[in-house]
Amino acid sequence: MHEIAKNIYWNGIKHWTLRNFHGRELSTHRASTYNAYIVRDEKTALIDTVWDPFADEFAASLEAGVGAKNIDLIVINHNEPDHGGSLGRVMELVPEGTPIYCSKNGAESIRKYFHRDDWNINVVKTGDSVSLGGRELTFVEMRLIHWPDSMMTFDSGAGVLFSNDAFGQHYCASGFFNDEVDECELYQEAIKYFANILAPYAPLIEKKLDEITALGLPVKLIAPSHGVIWRRDPLQIVGKYAEWAKAYSEGFAVIAYDCLYNATPAMAAAIAQGLANRGAAYKIFNTGGTDMSDLMTDMFCARGIIVGSSTVNNTVHRSIAGLLDDIRGHRLRGKIGAAFGSYGWSGEAPRLISEHLKGSGIEVAEEPLRAQYAPTPDDLRKCVEFGERFAEAMAAKRA
Ligand SMILES: [Fe+2]
Ligand SMILES: [Fe+2]
Repeated sequence: MHEIAKNIYWNGIKHWTLRNFHGRELSTHRASTYNAYIVRDEKTALIDTVWDPFADEFAASLEAGVGAKNIDLIVINHNEPDHGGSLGRVMELVPEGTPIYCSKNGAESIRKYFHRDDWNINVVKTGDSVSLGGRELTFVEMRLIHWPDSMMTFDSGAGVLFSNDAFGQHYCASGFFNDEVDECELYQEAIKYFANILAPYAPLIEKKLDEITALGLPVKLIAPSHGVIWRRDPLQIVGKYAEWAKAYSEGFAVIAYDCLYNATPAMAAAIAQGLANRGAAYKIFNTGGTDMSDLMTDMFCARGIIVGSSTVNNTVHRSIAGLLDDIRGHRLRGKIGAAFGSYGWSGEAPRLISEHLKGSGIEVAEEPLRAQYAPTPDDLRKCVEFGERFAEAMAAKRA
């Protein structure tokens, strides 16, 4: 246990060796933490648990810290297994009938994960609160940010917002607070988390942030369920979320391609030259050897997305198919796109990419561009012009 505010303790797990999350969907180069919290007053509350592989370690630390028998109530802000996973173990240790507070969808999720009808589950909604004696815990529903059951809990006495996944980062550090870690690393992980996990729900987040701001909560700490706690200027991350939840862009272009040989990369380099000719910044990735979670972060930050693939078996490369599905799933907003690629005979890939981008809500600025076998100087000149026009379209989008 580590006291983070008077009578409020972090009681989580630092999973230093974690390198992938959600199976292998998400890379976590800087590991992660599962943050559970204890609030002590006349009553003692446990807020969230940890991923179930750590259930024994978590139970031991609860026993050593407050003694599980002394827990009077449990709040489950979100029952995804990385947070609710150890609830079953905790329920074996706390007094029988200990109330669990969660959202309506949380109750359903708990029943369907644990298959127990005898637990004392109490459904709460936004504005409901529970008293611990000298302080109250108030609940704010966060439906579909990012699961149907998600909610936050606010300790109004201490000014601590237990925000669960919102404002989190897959980031592990020896310290507990944002002012104890490298700010650049922290923000790299915070935006990667937003881009990969929360971006699909950006319109809901935009609305919810307005709602939270209107509540005027006197927030002193934002304590998420992953990563470090926002203590220095805690609302800075709320401001960042407000930026990221809109059609966010840092203005550069991403060129992402996969290829069999050298023709598609030559086209990519010529397109990049065209972008540079018009003063546009860009990044180039060969998706065959690229971390897709990092690439999605760059896609999220880009204004323009140019995707290339040579044609293989009448379609795109496997890594490009995955990328296109990711682009669709993440519902990126306010981006422009284009497609290119080399081919030998059938040459469908650029058209398929272009159609996919359109179907994903990307504004396609150029007709798909292709070159047969080895691109000629004329083909490469067309690639440069394609890049130049794309840069102009990006500039027009900004204006
Ligand atoms: Fe989650
Ligand atoms: Fe989580």
